[in-house]
Amino acid sequence: PTAPAVPMPSPHSAGCPFGPPPAYTEAAATGPITRADLAGGESCWLATGYAEVRTILSDRRFSADARHPAFPFLLPGRREIVAANPTFLRLDDPEHARLRRMVTGDFLVKKVAALRPDIQRIVDEALDTMTEGRTTADLVAEFALPVPSLVICLLLGVPYEDRARFQGLSRTLLNNASTVEEVGAASDELRDYLTELAALKRERPEDDIISRLAARDDLTAREVAATGVLLLVAGHETTANMIALSTALLVDQPEQVAKLADPELVPGAVEELMRILSIVDNGLPRVATEDVELGGVLIRAGEGVIALISTANRDEAVFGGPGQRPVDEVDLGRDARRHMAFGFGVHQCLGQPLARAELQIALATLFRRLPGLRLAVPREELAFRTESLIFGMRSLPVAW
Ligand code: HEM
Repeated sequence: PTAPAVPMPSPHSAGCPFGPPPAYTEAAATGPITRADLAGGESCWLATGYAEVRTILSDRRFSADARHPAFPFLLPGRREIVAANPTFLRLDDPEHARLRRMVTGDFLVKKVAALRPDIQRIVDEALDTMTEGRTTADLVAEFALPVPSLVICLLLGVPYEDRARFQGLSRTLLNNASTVEEVGAASDELRDYLTELAALKRERPEDDIISRLAARDDLTAREVAATGVLLLVAGHETTANMIALSTALLVDQPEQVAKLADPELVPGAVEELMRILSIVDNGLPRVATEDVELGGVLIRAGEGVIALISTANRDEAVFGGPGQRPVDEVDLGRDARRHMAFGFGVHQCLGQPLARAELQIALATLFRRLPGLRLAVPREELAFRTESLIFGMRSLPVAW
């Protein structure tokens, strides 16, 4: 392609903070595959089109193994840290499948359906605490972050009292502004924390995922810790940001909020929120292991590729069409089920049934219990987390 390379990662725009960074939208307008310049000075391919992203994520000729020397890292210095202790997110089959299989049973749709009463209780209790004797609150600190944190703690057997520690460490890991030293230290500390917890659970097992992993003889202590870190980090920060952003997006749109009152419409509404917010908006990195012709270019073996789900999820041909609202507008009645906000292919989000249940229950309950919910500050003052690998909100002052 002749278009100039896109600098990555790129910041969100102040204009429409909910959309992908403008640099990515501009790249998408030039063609389905362009070039990107990574902050460390390397460059790679950038796939923005729906079909191309889908192929990259599902075709075995693209590897997710971060130990590959050409695996694209958005920021310099991160390779050694990730490659030293890879989680199954950054491994290929058969290693990936072997490790993922240890926890697939815990996140099946059926398993998560049985958890719904617990999630509902956690949501209700968070709202009770938030609203007791008050009419304003920071929705991030009091609702969006506690709900998924409590749920993942319950499943993993991580003490909720340790939340300040693991939430802070996760944020450092995901923060593009963290130094290499900070990321290395946070990664070590989280791993040590999970290693100690697993050792404790091996002595005194309880009914939770870490206890079950720790009891297995076919997993090393390192593998147990790495899987624990992945589940803990992926299990709270993502969903927390989805709850906060969804609320900020919908709070001034009563005709959309009304759809959340109909239980039949809630699952579809959450898919549309996943699509339009596509919070993993810096993309999913891969490296080609063979030459592949895709989107009019030849990607050579050993070249890095970033699959941008945020632009793919706004493909007019897939999500738009006659009678539909433009793809850049939220429409909770849209059929958004083909979105790739949870990824696609073998690495497709393991926690998606859980994330869906949490979002459905959290958002429907929030707007039902607080019909007068509104922003407590002017919209321009909302503090978005623009510096993170996962888009989100620092705080969300609301009133009711
Ligand atoms: C709305 C919230 C969430 C979003 C947007 C999200 C998004 C994603 C995406 C895009 C991927 C694919 C990454 C890639 O292919 O490179 C992924 C993988 C993963 N997610 Fe989620 N996720 C969410 C919630 C959760 C939750 C609640 C868990 C709970 C444990 C979780 C656990 C995982 C795991 C373990 C993987 C790695 C799967 C694999 O490599 O096989 N996620 N997620």
